[in-house]
Amino acid sequence: MSGGTAGRGLLVEGAAAVATLAGGLRRGASQGEAAVLSGEALCVAAWEGRILAAGTQAEVHRQIEAEGHSLDSFERLDARGGLVTPGLVDAHTHLLFAGTREAEWQMRARGAGYLEILAAGGGILSTVAATRAASDDELLEGGRARLAKMLANGTTTVEAKSGYALDVAGELRLLALADRLGREGPIEVVPTFLGAHAVPAEFRGRPDGTEAYVAHVIGEQLPAVIRQGIARSCDVFCESGVFDAAQSRRILAAASRSGLAVRLHADELAPSGGAELAAQLALASGAEPAAPPAAASAAASGAERGAERGCLSADHLAAPSDAGVAALARAAEAGRPVIATLLPATSWFLGKHRFAPARRFIDAGIPVAIATDLNPGTSPTLSLPLVMSIACIEMGLTPGEALAAVTINAACALGLGARIGSIEPGKQADLVVWDLPTIEQLPYWLSAPPARSVVKRGRRVFERG
Ligand code: NIG
Ligand code: FE
Repeated sequence: MSGGTAGRGLLVEGAAAVATLAGGLRRGASQGEAAVLSGEALCVAAWEGRILAAGTQAEVHRQIEAEGHSLDSFERLDARGGLVTPGLVDAHTHLLFAGTREAEWQMRARGAGYLEILAAGGGILSTVAATRAASDDELLEGGRARLAKMLANGTTTVEAKSGYALDVAGELRLLALADRLGREGPIEVVPTFLGAHAVPAEFRGRPDGTEAYVAHVIGEQLPAVIRQGIARSCDVFCESGVFDAAQSRRILAAASRSGLAVRLHADELAPSGGAELAAQLALASGAEPAAPPAAASAAASGAERGAERGCLSADHLAAPSDAGVAALARAAEAGRPVIATLLPATSWFLGKHRFAPARRFIDAGIPVAIATDLNPGTSPTLSLPLVMSIACIEMGLTPGEALAAVTINAACALGLGARIGSIEPGKQADLVVWDLPTIEQLPYWLSAPPARSVVKRGRRVFERG
């Protein structure tokens, strides 16, 4: 095949190392296996948006010819002795919001805790007020600016939660705007419904406020979200003092019956039964096949929707109970792994000295992902490399474990592990070229070097400078 094919093929050449992350979900001893190819002049070839081959120049050229393509039809990208990794996957963000919350620093300095600020109508609720008041254009502009910085930091797929409107129309609006940003590209956006993020002001005056709001989420918001057909999963802030485990279970069970995958903010501040609930949901799945959403997103293939059944992830987990850790280990052992999606930038930003027990999870065979938790209250960062640094420093991950946690395991946490998260023939060609020779240097240079080139679906979508 020659001529007329320009733009269909991309050949990244001259890399010193290629971390393929090939081989599927990592857990236990395999958490740190980044499957790094090293040697001289390594290449990665993509054809029509998918990975064709990775290896030495000779191997990759041979494979290109074996597939019947001409080398001339490949656009070249010189990695200049750098590192190539899969595009990074940020599996937990609150991408769309208005306003900022630096004022909470003063309150924290005076000793106020996160949940106290929320109970006083601040925290999440102040972002809800600002977000409800913002126009579509303001929210889109904020989202676009953040996505552009995430791309420069090597992120090619972003989960985006609703949860800053807490009423039917506003939650649908946030999901629709997240979906729109994903369609604009180049970053792929995976929308999550988080109606149960906090109890909004209009329910708080009532003695049964939390229960009434849970009923509203299940009875009004969720059916509208299913009709809209954009959300891929449902999340709940499961924490004593916010939504307890029983309330969270009711919401997530309803979401699961409606065909959404489920995930939860679990045991962020205190043991709240979140890890236990996640494991129970995972182990219960498969008993009844989940029905597809009424208007399933066209982007979601049947296989991906299948992969989304069960409980995809339990997030935060800075304060799980021993029973919760044991339950997550049993779910992983039973082949229904819940990805422990740890958010160390949040613990750090809140000045906590307790981080999620990542080493304990890995030793117990629980797969670990890490994510930014980008949000205005607890984690205003757009950089997965920075989160990798914090994970290595504060949770004792190795760079290889941290890399698996932002690539293949993060992809699995979104139910997308079969399509993204690793460099393997047939998978989507989402790649990052870093000006670094090794994976160890990715978390090593604090406030890490932004990516030099980023490729999404086989197309160059970012070049530094
Ligand atoms: O993951 N903990 C709950 N939700 C977010 C914070 C949201 C906010 O404070 O605005 C989190 O940390
Ligand atoms: Fe969060």
